[in-house]
Amino acid sequence: MRKKIVAGNWKMNNDLKATQLLIENLKGLTLASDVSVMVAPTFVNLTAALDTAATTPIEVIAQNMHFADSGAYTGEISADMLTAVGIKTVILGHSERRSYFGETDAILEKKTKQAIDKGLQVMFCFGEELADRKSGNHFNVVEHQLKNALFSLPETAWSQIILAYEPVWAIGTGETASAEQAQEMHHFIRKTIAAAFSESIAQEVSILYGGSVKPANAVEIFSKPDVDGGLIGGAALVATDFAAIVNAFN
Ligand code: 13P
Repeated sequence: MRKKIVAGNWKMNNDLKATQLLIENLKGLTLASDVSVMVAPTFVNLTAALDTAATTPIEVIAQNMHFADSGAYTGEISADMLTAVGIKTVILGHSERRSYFGETDAILEKKTKQAIDKGLQVMFCFGEELADRKSGNHFNVVEHQLKNALFSLPETAWSQIILAYEPVWAIGTGETASAEQAQEMHHFIRKTIAAAFSESIAQEVSILYGGSVKPANAVEIFSKPDVDGGLIGGAALVATDFAAIVNAFN
């Protein structure tokens, strides 16, 4: 059975104190026990976040990593550095990494392979831009993003992968894909994985939706059969909103 997951991508928000406070606030709220809850603070606050979240079901995850084992990559963080402090899951391929930091499908393929080899779980993000959607090219773009970065993986890698479909036009814009649009794309993604790998892999992989998910729209989006949860940006910075989204499954 695939998992229900709600993850908060904090992006470049929250200093040390704010990180600890947000997790403390989440600890005081009821979070549905059948949902895997994850938060992704920035690198410098991972250790403090792990300490604050210890003995809770909240998993602290990383927002990014480099593909190399180690070396002259100023400012970068390796998979081993993440696992050494206790991180088990890493977000890769976020649209902000793709657009502001030049991460291509080829780079993401290397990063994903490295993370899998190092035993990390990967939350792989992808999604079309507004122009792709307007021109009706969105399925094609998504298929290529998946194919270019993930299709060279062995079948065994899929037990370490979570997919996060985030249409770029819905990120931070307040404009969300309709629940129907999310379902349509998630169904397409599952079909694409089934064709490239197997029906059982496609049925087992959790596919999250991301892009302006709020307490007000989460219930409808999460009610769709191929939507297994959400990757949340802005609303994850407010404990009560994030908890409401965690609790939005029927
Ligand atoms: P928003 O929820 O702020 O639109 O961000 C979504 C996102 O990018 C999560 O990774």
